[in-house]
Amino acid sequence: MTTSQMPASGRTPRAPGEALPARLLDAGERMGADELREYQLTRLQRTLRTAYNEVELYRRKFDAAGVRPEDCRSLEDLARFPFTTKADLRETYPFGMFAVPMADVRRIHASSGTTGRPTVVGYTENDISMWADMVARSIRAAGGRPGHKVHVAYGYGLFTGGLGAHYGAERAGCTVIPVSGGMTARQVQLIQDFEPEIIMVTPSYMLTLLDEFERQGVDPRSTSLRTGIFGAEPWTEEMRAEIEERLGIHAVDIYGLSEVIGPGVAQECVETKDGLHIWEDQFFPEIVDPVTDVLQGAGEEGELVFTSLNKEAMPVIRYRTRDLTRLLPGTARPAFRRMEKVTRRCDDMIILRGVNIFPSQVEEILLRTEGLAPHFQLRLSTRGRLDHMTVRVESRPGTAPERCEEAARSVARAVKDGIGLSVDVETVEPETLERSVGKIRRVVDERSRG
Ligand code: DLL
Repeated sequence: MTTSQMPASGRTPRAPGEALPARLLDAGERMGADELREYQLTRLQRTLRTAYNEVELYRRKFDAAGVRPEDCRSLEDLARFPFTTKADLRETYPFGMFAVPMADVRRIHASSGTTGRPTVVGYTENDISMWADMVARSIRAAGGRPGHKVHVAYGYGLFTGGLGAHYGAERAGCTVIPVSGGMTARQVQLIQDFEPEIIMVTPSYMLTLLDEFERQGVDPRSTSLRTGIFGAEPWTEEMRAEIEERLGIHAVDIYGLSEVIGPGVAQECVETKDGLHIWEDQFFPEIVDPVTDVLQGAGEEGELVFTSLNKEAMPVIRYRTRDLTRLLPGTARPAFRRMEKVTRRCDDMIILRGVNIFPSQVEEILLRTEGLAPHFQLRLSTRGRLDHMTVRVESRPGTAPERCEEAARSVARAVKDGIGLSVDVETVEPETLERSVGKIRRVVDERSRG
């Protein structure tokens, strides 16, 4: 059955998504748990050797920690090796982390970085191909099939979202529509004219597109779209519910970071929507306590750490993502572990007048408040001797000023009741908060440190 012949019930996301038929699983996905562990160990040993021999920074750090690649005899031994952080990548800017000659580097990407130097990453031809395989696998897990059209609205350029999605969709046998970000009205037109089944975009920009559909008087549920593959920023279950309801699609989560490869490190399967399967034949995950660095057990929350198993141009050893999650056993892909949806980062937690608060808690409140969009920024300042927080939030298009004021008051009340903090809430016009590759910087900390 093609998607255009889907029964009307196919429009309701509450009908479970269709599992990938076993014959469409790729070789990596077919590995059993034991085979996977064995494969991971040989690839890990090779990666450690390359890192030590070819990258000065790794050699220095391994030596300082008193470990050599040959000390890794089991997967558990990885815990003896030092971590890599964003600071290490900045220190070696721009190309100091590369393990191959420049002539073998086929492509460069860089993360935007809100402050300081960007983080630069490189790919060999094999890296680009492996990355395309992982995004193709992710698209299939989300319900994509050969012949589907994929509207890519992640930004193209140094950001990994656009090109990562693009090569993966091609590898999956789909037809790519490389729209990139921006020009919202035109995106809506193209979706109506080209009739894609799949959209890949940040969840917050999807909401902007939904508003635009409604502004143009088009029912978003009437489009050809069946699946949205959303990532690059945290999003909550409430946001999933809103997108699925308003658009009548399956909304699934894709995770990744440029240092590890880009999108396609982990992906939620559409039939379960129960967290993201980590593509462990390429990326080995660990969870550590973000403060004590101690390795956490299965199911315990902490900072996600990745070691690449096959990357050539820029292998990463125990890279600290700063993302908080926990590892769970595999479900739809039993050999691969899942990670819980990432809604918080260690560096996101705000401590305000002794109260811990995460931006995701504010987002949940905004999503429950009529007239407001979940596009917001938390600004921290010092007034007198006290820290203070202002929630700046975009209103939904067409919301009357009185309604905005009422919504702001209701958010302030909900933050006070739910989190225990008095905050100011300021509503601003739609699309006025500054975005970088579609992402809004959630926290702006202007507190004086005196
Ligand atoms: O955002 C890669 C990407 C592009 C992923 C498109 C998915 C889709 P960076 O710009 O390096 O790479 O940012 C990586 O974004 O450490 C997380 O904090 C956050 N992030 C990415 N995906 C998710 C997600 C890309 N699904 C940083 N949920 C990561 C929550 C996410 N946070």
